[in-house]
Amino acid sequence: MVPGLLVFAVQIFVLGFSLIILWRRFFSPIKTVPGPFLASVSRFWHLHHIIKGDQNLQLINLHDKYGHFVRIAHNEVGVSHPDGIKKILLAPLHKASWYKFLSIPDYRYQTPMSTTDPKKKVERSRHFAAGYTMSNLLQTEDSIGSVIDQFLAWLDRSAESKKAVHLDKYLTFTAFDIAGEVLFSKRFGFLKEGRDVGNAIGNSLMLNLYASTMGFFRWIHVILIGNPFMTSLNVLPSGHIFDTTVRALDDRLNNRDRNRFDVVDHWLKAMEKNPGQVLLRDVYAAATGAMGAASDTISCALQSFVYFMNRHPNAWERVRGEIEEAQRTQGLCRDRVLASKEALRVFGPVSMTLPRLAPPGGLTIGSKHFPEGTILSINPWVMHHSRELWGSDAREFNPDRWLKDDAGELDRYFMPWGQGYNSCPGQHIARIELSKITATLVGDYNIRQVDKNQDWQWKAYFTVVPHSWPCYIERRAGNELSSW
Ligand code: HEM
Repeated sequence: MVPGLLVFAVQIFVLGFSLIILWRRFFSPIKTVPGPFLASVSRFWHLHHIIKGDQNLQLINLHDKYGHFVRIAHNEVGVSHPDGIKKILLAPLHKASWYKFLSIPDYRYQTPMSTTDPKKKVERSRHFAAGYTMSNLLQTEDSIGSVIDQFLAWLDRSAESKKAVHLDKYLTFTAFDIAGEVLFSKRFGFLKEGRDVGNAIGNSLMLNLYASTMGFFRWIHVILIGNPFMTSLNVLPSGHIFDTTVRALDDRLNNRDRNRFDVVDHWLKAMEKNPGQVLLRDVYAAATGAMGAASDTISCALQSFVYFMNRHPNAWERVRGEIEEAQRTQGLCRDRVLASKEALRVFGPVSMTLPRLAPPGGLTIGSKHFPEGTILSINPWVMHHSRELWGSDAREFNPDRWLKDDAGELDRYFMPWGQGYNSCPGQHIARIELSKITATLVGDYNIRQVDKNQDWQWKAYFTVVPHSWPCYIERRAGNELSSW
């Protein structure tokens, strides 16, 4: 009797599973969108490449093969159509449920990033906006400067030693320590200790992988880990970054009369001004979310700048020439800014697709109509590597493209920060950091990769952080060009 029931249950399961596969492949409203077979019936093709760490390149390959629309999962279409950014990211479309994962440690800790309804997201962001305005951020310049000084002291020691060093790691340490200073006036101590304290950066990479995959199975995460019960037990290793963030916030709450500006201070003011609307829990959530968003991204952008400058025949010399000219005339060093922008284009920090839902009535892009509820996503790497949008040299680092007559047109497709209502609120902080650090690197140092022919390594999860490309550092005396 029992084996008979078991066989029946297995048969029902196999039948149900087969029907789902058949429906997704042959009857789904997006059945005609081309893509890999596994992607047409499940999320597994995408998950496989997230875990492998090459989703960015695979998505580019798929669009090269199939064109503007590619089925990357049974319910998701990747879009590279020139109108895609305008119709998907710049419109007030709901974000896909993947974003809901981004409330850490559990679902009570909502952030603007985890809020999928555009109106509610904008409302939530409004409370946190003061922390990100340029005028307020400029007041953090001194604390950013003091972390950069610590980084430069390490560069000087590295130059003196004449040994190969891991610039990648120290750029990551710098990015994390600056994030701590800007957000809550406390650095994590990575630069001081010269190591990944408590394996915090290693853990952050694992969280990056966990979030980018488990976001598709949030219910499992909520049952197992992301629930108030597990949070109350306090048994999960929270790690150095989370602990330091919480300690810094607690410390701030007990010392509110300090005369020091940082981002969290504005958020606590918003909490006082809007009792019941902004809770202390929201501030904790926003601070940990911003920590995650503010460090890997900056490390990638800085590494990308140095790595690609080294692969360009005369980029360093040109930028230095411009800096000297700018120093004479007090002008802007345009070449450095453009090289940094081009580095963000060719190897941008965010490698995940940015998914939105087709609205009631569906959405038409080009000649293709997608019914309500279809997940439509834009991937920054796919857009930035499109030959249709950037020309035949789309996959090369070429800062000169930003000097051409059509550069204004190119800006429409430039999206390292995302675009629209969910775009990065930390852009000003990022620009301040990037411009300060790249200016010093270009002006005061020669940096050479130990083996110029060796590719760096990276895994493209939500963000992509390169590593393992040791360098030699040389301090420039005066304005001479590299002897290398
Ligand atoms: C080069 C550096 C950076 C890049 C390329 C970058 C890029 C992005 C992108 C693409 C998104 C998501 C857009 C979407 O899902 O549609 C995002 C979100 C976010 N970024 Fe950045 N980011 C950078 C630096 C920073 C910094 C320094 C902060 C500072 C705190 C920051 C804070 C955030 C936050 C809080 C979000 C979540 C969205 C929200 O709360 O509205 N980012 N960023």
